[in-house]
Amino acid sequence: MRLLGPEQWNVLAQLRPSGSLGQWFVDDPGRADRFRVEAADLLIDYSKQLIDDGVMAALVAMAEAAGVADHRNAMFAGERINTTEQRPVLHTALRARAGDVVVVDGVDVVADVHGVLAEMGAFADEVRRSRRIRSVVNIGIGGSDLGPAMATDALWAWVDRGIETYFVSNVDGSDLDRVLGRVDAESTLFIVSSKTFTTIETMTNARTARAWLVAALGESAVEDHFVAVSTNRDAVEAFGISTVFGFWDWVGGRYSLGSAIGLSLMIAIGPDHFGELLAGMRSIDEHFCTAALDANAPVLLAMIGIWNSVVLGASTKAVIPYARDLARFPAYLQQLDMESNGKDVRVDGSAVEVPTGPVIWGEPGTNGQHAFFQLLHQGTHLIPVEFIGFARPNHALGEHHDLLFANLLAQAEALAFGRVDSRDPHRSFAGNHPSTVIVSERLTPSTLGQLIALYEHIVFVQGVIWGINSFDQWGVELGKELARSIGPELDGSSPVGRHDSSTAALIDWYRTHRG
Ligand code: F6P
Repeated sequence: MRLLGPEQWNVLAQLRPSGSLGQWFVDDPGRADRFRVEAADLLIDYSKQLIDDGVMAALVAMAEAAGVADHRNAMFAGERINTTEQRPVLHTALRARAGDVVVVDGVDVVADVHGVLAEMGAFADEVRRSRRIRSVVNIGIGGSDLGPAMATDALWAWVDRGIETYFVSNVDGSDLDRVLGRVDAESTLFIVSSKTFTTIETMTNARTARAWLVAALGESAVEDHFVAVSTNRDAVEAFGISTVFGFWDWVGGRYSLGSAIGLSLMIAIGPDHFGELLAGMRSIDEHFCTAALDANAPVLLAMIGIWNSVVLGASTKAVIPYARDLARFPAYLQQLDMESNGKDVRVDGSAVEVPTGPVIWGEPGTNGQHAFFQLLHQGTHLIPVEFIGFARPNHALGEHHDLLFANLLAQAEALAFGRVDSRDPHRSFAGNHPSTVIVSERLTPSTLGQLIALYEHIVFVQGVIWGINSFDQWGVELGKELARSIGPELDGSSPVGRHDSSTAALIDWYRTHRG
């Protein structure tokens, strides 16, 4: 990684093209062909972004200058690019082929990965075959929840209908209570998923679930109804769980779906389909490692994101899947992107001088059209959109799908080109709102894996350009620490400490009303 200087950002700022998308498409019949890229089974059309050839050339040159390719190679090779924690970043090893070799501290991690995958596969097969378990409850939060929760919903067409999968994440007891009210102890498997096995939400939920099970079936039932996924085997053992699927500190939580954190998903869709998800991820890894930077999908999309944030001043990005099955994908991307690149300090400790990671948000189309699209079309904020769509549905309700895809195309067209009503400004659409369209034939385990890896690598490239470490998350620590000390103040088990007057008054109010 080579840190960029202010002069490099200034060059970019001067390249803003004049004119509009409408004009550029009229003047340049080759625009749609030139500004598209294919990666594995994904076709990506970025011709409706506010870019031209000069901008794209400068963006690719910037990626070269920042050393994206070298840093990418360092990541895949297992170098300790997570510098604040002195760790390698090897989620790509989770989907490496058996027989590939990546060595960390003298150990071939790919062999370890395939060892755990085999254990997971045997366990998942047994759960699916025996029919003793009807409900699987994953207890985890953040990366130990969002990936499997998103993917289990996305791949519902592959899900075993005889097993219900639930995801409990929030420390709000309502989350667990709703699930415990629907499952029956005898046929329920709890998977406690936590990299650290110290996360307060997960440990609180796990303790309550354990007490519920013991009350129903006795202490001896824990062994058969609880398994854990963690890097912290000692803490798992201390909790009283004997079956543990391990992973490694070189897997970041938000990058961990391909590890044993995906166990609930594997039980739901079966080991073979889980393998297809991993293969899909790998196909994008291969593209990322081999395609030239100017034909490299993650690099191009990352650099367009940099352009939108830094030069055009967009502080958010909407991701709108025209697929109900990807309803949780924007939430998944929020952690992936915002926990990775929501940083204000570069790897050398200096301040970043340009805006970094945008706010990521979104909802499936067409629902979003009837909620917030008004603002996208006629509001005053510049909000780049990424549309995701598929040619074939995973259901047989044929006529719905043409309508769905028609809406995707219509929205991208309306945002780009608008429509002027010279008599009534209220009915005028200015257009020139940038968007990218990402399509694939069908949402499958493989194409879902491809989308995940595409976004992982976009985040990676942007981190390199901003010069930040995308793989730590120190920003979440302060709030956790304060909550730990305020908790006992609320129930009176510890005296109220020093707080600002607003917090002190709210603690007082809570103590009066907590019942
Ligand atoms: O608090 C943030 C975080 O550390 C995430 O990065 C992580 O995915 C989540 O908490 C859960 O952590 P764990 O898997 O250790 O319980």
